[in-house]
Amino acid sequence: MSDKRHIVVIGGTSGLGLASAEYLLNQGYDVTVVGRKLPKARADLSFYKMDVTDEESVKSFFCKDEISRIDGLIYSAGKSIGRKPINEFSNLEYIKIHDVNLLGALFVFKYCYEYLKQSKGKVVIINSIAARTYSEFSGIEYTITKSALSGLVRHLSADWSKDSILINTIFPSMIETSMLEERLSSEEIKKLHESIPIGRIAKTKDIVGAIEFLISDKNTYITGSGIDLNGGKFLSS
Ligand SMILES: NC(=O)c1ccc[n+]([C@@H]2O[C@H](COP(=O)([O-])OP(=O)(O)OC[C@H]3O[C@@H](n4cnc5c(N)ncnc54)[C@H](OP(=O)(O)O)[C@@H]3O)[C@@H](O)[C@H]2O)c1
Repeated sequence: MSDKRHIVVIGGTSGLGLASAEYLLNQGYDVTVVGRKLPKARADLSFYKMDVTDEESVKSFFCKDEISRIDGLIYSAGKSIGRKPINEFSNLEYIKIHDVNLLGALFVFKYCYEYLKQSKGKVVIINSIAARTYSEFSGIEYTITKSALSGLVRHLSADWSKDSILINTIFPSMIETSMLEERLSSEEIKKLHESIPIGRIAKTKDIVGAIEFLISDKNTYITGSGIDLNGGKFLSS
């Protein structure tokens, strides 16, 4: 491995995770993307297969001999589900969301801790505006699991401060990725653009700079914190 800082992007195979990986590569970092499947067109990326819901799969990635150092980790793996009334709640559906959004993060931090301790590393968790308010378009399962990630960040930042590991989160509102396009009609997407003070839904390029700042050497003192990236959604007239 080179002298460049090595960043691992969990859920780096599509959407915001992939855009972050590409941005970091362009900024001169070594980047490894991790997920269940690398898109066919991206054989140029350093990729490892991992299912975050399977502890053995997570463990085997972090026990690979070829990973000598991890300076930063981005947890972007996420799953959402459409909104339904609570009387249609399904435990089975909830578990699927919970396992990717929350349990997977716990497995990842269990096994990457020693690397981060050694490098005094940085972590960014991709959260959501759902954790700051609620989710307009995804179900309660998404709001709950994303809110729990905020607790995870607070707790680990307290535990890890003695090791100089900095862990933070970002809270984006809607971003133009497949997750959004699969969920909403073009009419709903148009309305959404209009509902944001800045006048448009975020593109991944609006978000990646904040992720890079938190994971870079420029961040020397922020931990247990989060950045709202929502085009002014919290403003009131
Ligand atoms: N899009 C938005 O509007 C929006 C807004 C706020 C926050 N976010 C958050 O941003 C993050 C990225 O979302 P996105 O919009 O970029 O969605 P996306 O394109 O669907 O990306 C989701 C990523 O999660 C990975 N993933 C899902 N299940 C996994 C599993 N079991 N094991 C390993 N990886 C898994 C996927 O990789 P594989 O399929 O290869 O496994 C993929 O790389 C999520 O945490 C989401 O909640 C998105």
